[in-house]
Amino acid sequence: MSEGERLTELAKRRGFYFPSSSAYGGAAGFWTYGPQGAALKSNIEDAWRDRYVVKEGHQEISAPDVMPEPVFEASGHLDGFDDMIVECGECGATHRADHLVEDNTDIEEAESLPNEEVMDLIADHGIECPSCHTSLADQPVDNFNLMFETNIGPGSSSPGYLRPETAQGIFVEFPQLSEYARNQLPFGVAQIGKAYRNEISPRKSLVRVREFTQAELEHFIDPEEDEPPLADVADVVLPLYSAAAQESEDGGMQELTVREAVDEGVVESEWVAYYLGVSKEWYERIGVDMDRFRYRQHLAGERAHYASDCWDAESEVDGDWIEITGFAYRGDYDLSKHAKHSGEDYTVFKQYDEPITVERATVDPDMSYLGPEFGGSAGAVADALEALAERNPDAFDGDEVTVEIDGESHTVPVDKTNFSVDEVTENGEHIRPHVVEPSFGVSRIIYTVLAHSYETDEVDGEERAYLDLPPEQAPTTVGVFPLMDKDGMADLATDIAEDLRTAGLSVTYDDSGAIGRRYRRQDEVGTPYCVTVDYESLEDNEVTVRERDTTEQKRLPIDGLADRLEQLASGELTFDDL
Ligand code: GAP
Repeated sequence: MSEGERLTELAKRRGFYFPSSSAYGGAAGFWTYGPQGAALKSNIEDAWRDRYVVKEGHQEISAPDVMPEPVFEASGHLDGFDDMIVECGECGATHRADHLVEDNTDIEEAESLPNEEVMDLIADHGIECPSCHTSLADQPVDNFNLMFETNIGPGSSSPGYLRPETAQGIFVEFPQLSEYARNQLPFGVAQIGKAYRNEISPRKSLVRVREFTQAELEHFIDPEEDEPPLADVADVVLPLYSAAAQESEDGGMQELTVREAVDEGVVESEWVAYYLGVSKEWYERIGVDMDRFRYRQHLAGERAHYASDCWDAESEVDGDWIEITGFAYRGDYDLSKHAKHSGEDYTVFKQYDEPITVERATVDPDMSYLGPEFGGSAGAVADALEALAERNPDAFDGDEVTVEIDGESHTVPVDKTNFSVDEVTENGEHIRPHVVEPSFGVSRIIYTVLAHSYETDEVDGEERAYLDLPPEQAPTTVGVFPLMDKDGMADLATDIAEDLRTAGLSVTYDDSGAIGRRYRRQDEVGTPYCVTVDYESLEDNEVTVRERDTTEQKRLPIDGLADRLEQLASGELTFDDL
């Protein structure tokens, strides 16, 4: 059984996640998180919020999942958010063409190749339809837009889309959000929420799904002035697989500190490097195995339409590398596009330290001349003269000045433009912020954390499987068991469970089956501590506390138990300290 198959089996049996709507045959790419999975997901989201919102001092918002079509016209998703699709001429099944190439050749990133080349590779390698095994040679490789379309309200006059990334809900609201940040850069806005992609071939359970949760941070910066607090993570060692290394024969992974990566130009943007450092520590905290983790830079053809540089955090499962987070330098792409399409102001006013005096060239065209001369184009000519004065005042040096509008020249006597150069005092300027974006896929992180935490050993001559999840992430912190459901043991155990819940711990109460079975059940869902009430507890007010990873057991007083367990879970105490 592969690691992924074993995980899917455990996930279903123990209530982490399972295919949705299976009573009706299900729909590929949709999964329901069961009680353990929902708790794990919420703990991972809380740890993300703690690091990227609270500790970084950013704001969090919650925007709608459905957004109107103009948003995605502006963002470029309507035109450019495509994957390569190939349809089988025999059975009509559709497949992700680049994935077929990756699965059947040594090529690792076929997504970065042009469609025609992928079509040639399918023919050259005799790749067949995975469903009916008919050759796919000569079948066209087309683009398929991944967005789910819907209608807003009755009728079809107002098309909308389920957002393919939570980010657009932040970008669209920039003018408002900037005001909340008192128009002062840098500031970050985060969002944890659903994203939807109509994937051609959902696969590997949570890895490629059609509805998933993203945790995204859009950090708005002044590219001329703002610098990240690099010193905070300067010594964090990054496992880096650069585009240059991927393209060279003998290139491999490099281990560089954040500072070295920036100084040596391996990671170009200090902001991206900062978040790679922060995130490496965060992944360790939530239980990603650092021996199965790397940062890989996107190849030029692989980058999304908005990104000028991008690094992915990747985790290894079953020998495959999975992209779990993208770190993109989005520049001013999104804010410029939304400004252009909406006509709203997507800038911030940057105040100078001291007011400055500058020479400003202006025009005040004589419309009584332009009107009769240029008719319906007179307004456009006036605008073009204004823009030219700002851009190139020297153009007004002669008797006439010429502007181009839609390829047509319009010549105006300079004295009809009322051109002048005046000294003006300026207090600041409008600038368009740049965006640095760490974008986390929560479902892939859950998949990784579960795969990397799965361990087996032998206890009392039997093989035992357990998840060595960090206590902060574990769905349940404490399992409470009465040894037997008689002589007051169940009552005492119920009281203890209540006390621990009141103290804020996540508790499972279990009184069914042999005690060994109960331990195994909790081990398999990663519960770090179990508390057993036995006959002695009724006499001495002590319980047995068992640690998951070592299976070691210690007697502890019931009085103060919640404090002790909290200290253990937070890492303030180790089991040996008890
Ligand atoms: N806002 C940027 C953005 O959406 P992305 O690389 O397309 O960038 C970010 O997505 C993250 O979302 C990925 O790193 C991945 O973890 C997750 N993701 C993307 N598509 C997914 C899918 N179909 N199923 C599960 N997770 C997905």
